[in-house]
Amino acid sequence: MGAIKTKQVERPFSRVERHKLLEWFYLKDDKGEFGHAGQWAIKRDFDAQNPDPELLKIIYSDRSLPTSINPPSATSQPSLVASMLELLKLQRGMNVLEVGAGTGYNAAMMQEIVGRTGHITTIDIQDDVVDQTRRLLKASGYGGIEVIAADGAQGFPQNAPYDRIITTVGCPDISFRWVEQLADDGFMLIPLQHGGEGFDPLVRIWKEGERLLGRLVGFSRFMSIQGELAIKQRPDFGDFVALRSREPTAVYPLFGIFKEMVESVKNKQEDQFIASLLFMVIVGDKKPFNWVNWVPPSFWDEEKGVVVIRENGIALYGDESLLADLKSLSDQWEGLGRPGFFDWRLEFLPRDRVPEIREGEWAWVIERKFSREIVRLA
Ligand SMILES: C[S@@+](CC[C@H](N)C(=O)[O-])C[C@H]1O[C@@H](n2cnc3c(N)ncnc32)[C@H](O)[C@@H]1O
Repeated sequence: MGAIKTKQVERPFSRVERHKLLEWFYLKDDKGEFGHAGQWAIKRDFDAQNPDPELLKIIYSDRSLPTSINPPSATSQPSLVASMLELLKLQRGMNVLEVGAGTGYNAAMMQEIVGRTGHITTIDIQDDVVDQTRRLLKASGYGGIEVIAADGAQGFPQNAPYDRIITTVGCPDISFRWVEQLADDGFMLIPLQHGGEGFDPLVRIWKEGERLLGRLVGFSRFMSIQGELAIKQRPDFGDFVALRSREPTAVYPLFGIFKEMVESVKNKQEDQFIASLLFMVIVGDKKPFNWVNWVPPSFWDEEKGVVVIRENGIALYGDESLLADLKSLSDQWEGLGRPGFFDWRLEFLPRDRVPEIREGEWAWVIERKFSREIVRLA
């Protein structure tokens, strides 16, 4: 699929055995007894000593596999694990902190790359997940990985400074503890939610003198972090499902950025699709609603309602004044030269610091729980 690009990342994939880090997982099933957010699942027990060939096939497919429903945990999708490992640019001997240990699959991969002279610390907020992962990692030959039960928002100062800090869980904000524990020449790789849960551009963040700078480097979809960094997410998920089956308030012909959204979905141009949703988030403060389905692209406005972009037009559920917003956003998108996903430059400040935005600069500010993100157009 092209996710593995280097020998360095290929090697751990041929060595770490995903099935040895699993004792059960959940599969989607309408008749299942485990329900969450309108979806049902069944639990399948798995014995690595005597593996069921059908389940092995699933384990070695490109799927994320839930291992706990509520609170959630999972082993991430292997192609996403690979992309993030490529972006992490690990080297032998590095000291790494991971937030979101889950099954330890990614931690084991990282241990393979940093080797015996390197060190991996991985944190999970769920005690039972930590107990199981510590035991299974040890049994698979990765007993050197330190698995810590705590809220990862605190980091783990005992092992700092870290050359890399990675979170394998979607974050509505960064933690300034991580910044303190990051080596001056290191960087963090964070699935940083923009506009809410499930829309998680991968952001590389590094220190430059006194400043904390960032770039968008990829895209992901993760479950949300719990604990100190958590925020109240979108309104009740059920409301959106109900809404989709209702008649819209109005349907308008497609134009500008929305026409392009439909085209990019049709042509499976994910980069372009995500870039246009990101523009809605940064410039328009609209929140993508694509947690369950990519298509049709939809987003909501805290005050005015929900917009669903269909092939036959823009369906609006809510206040008709939203149309004027959408027109203005589309005009700005054209005026700014249709910014792509990689055109944005990020900077992070604590909430109590006022951003310095020069005159004539194209900059927007995203307020988060602890930080203020300044997004500038290159
Ligand atoms: C998608 S899973 C991680 C997948 C894992 N890296 C793997 O390779 O299997 C996300 C994990 O983040 C954990 N988590 C959620 N909030 C956390 C927090 N504040 N600190 C540490 N872990 C957290 C969840 O319990 C869950 O196990």
